Amino acid sequence: MGNAAVTRQVVGQGVVNDRVYQSPSVVRHYPSDKLELAEALALLKYQPVFAGRDVLDLGVGTGRTAIYLAPMAHRYIGVDYSPYMVQKASHRLPKVRFELGDMRDLSVHEAGSFDFVFGTNNVLDAVSHEERLQVLSEVRRVLKPDGVVMFSAHNRSYKHAYRGPRLKLSRNPVTMLRNVVRVGRQWLNYGRLRRFNRDEAQYALLTDVGHDYACLHYYIDREAQALQLSALGFRLLDVFTVWGASLGVDDLAESSPWLMYVATVIS
Ligand SMILES: C[S@@+](CC[C@H](N)C(=O)[O-])C[C@H]1O[C@@H](n2cnc3c(N)ncnc32)[C@H](O)[C@@H]1O
Repeated sequence: MGNAAVTRQVVGQGVVNDRVYQSPSVVRHYPSDKLELAEALALLKYQPVFAGRDVLDLGVGTGRTAIYLAPMAHRYIGVDYSPYMVQKASHRLPKVRFELGDMRDLSVHEAGSFDFVFGTNNVLDAVSHEERLQVLSEVRRVLKPDGVVMFSAHNRSYKHAYRGPRLKLSRNPVTMLRNVVRVGRQWLNYGRLRRFNRDEAQYALLTDVGHDYACLHYYIDREAQALQLSALGFRLLDVFTVWGASLGVDDLAESSPWLMYVATVIS
């Protein structure tokens, strides 16, 4: 891919995703106070890594994960680059420390200052390939020598990864009407953004059902993610499916829309 194409891709993804995540209405999409099954099971397994330790939660949104992690941690910081998210999270959990910040630049945090960095709900997929490498390098820098990162990423091998919008049928007429309106919105966004979809050797960039096809998300398969982590100085410890099952080495997990990765720093 030429330089102009790379620039177009990066600018396109940044502009598109910032428009969604930096909008005042974004908080409406994140009312949940529950953990996903994969999050709960992965966190349960790796509890000694964060309980009583220093934790950084990237792209924390409205604080859903802070509800569980902050009380268990010795020191907890939730970071998000959306002022509306940080405001909502701080209002929801006034005793918890939330900071406005961009995960692409963690320079306000000292090297080796965290035991555990968390980045769930595919937050790393909101930035370009080059920026993702930058985020992971920053994560490695701020982690202590035996520190652990746990993050989720859209699964490029997911059988419906490349699928466009679909109308969900319902017997309830009100729900059906809502579904029709929603799929209309999804098709408009899909029509607008699919020209930015890209298939590269290591990853794909796709507009998907998240935020009704109004974002461009990074998709990577397990093998490429393992190589990426290894090149950045991490050792992969575990990969979980959305159901919290630990994945075998050759398993592509085609039924799992995203995967949860756990890796430790190679010192
Ligand atoms: C899919 S939401 C997940 C929110 C939260 N982690 C959760 O699981 O409920 C992605 C979050 O990442 C944040 N985000 C996106 N790009 C970011 C960046 N470059 N730096 C910090 N936060 C970012 C968005 O503002 C949004 O709150």
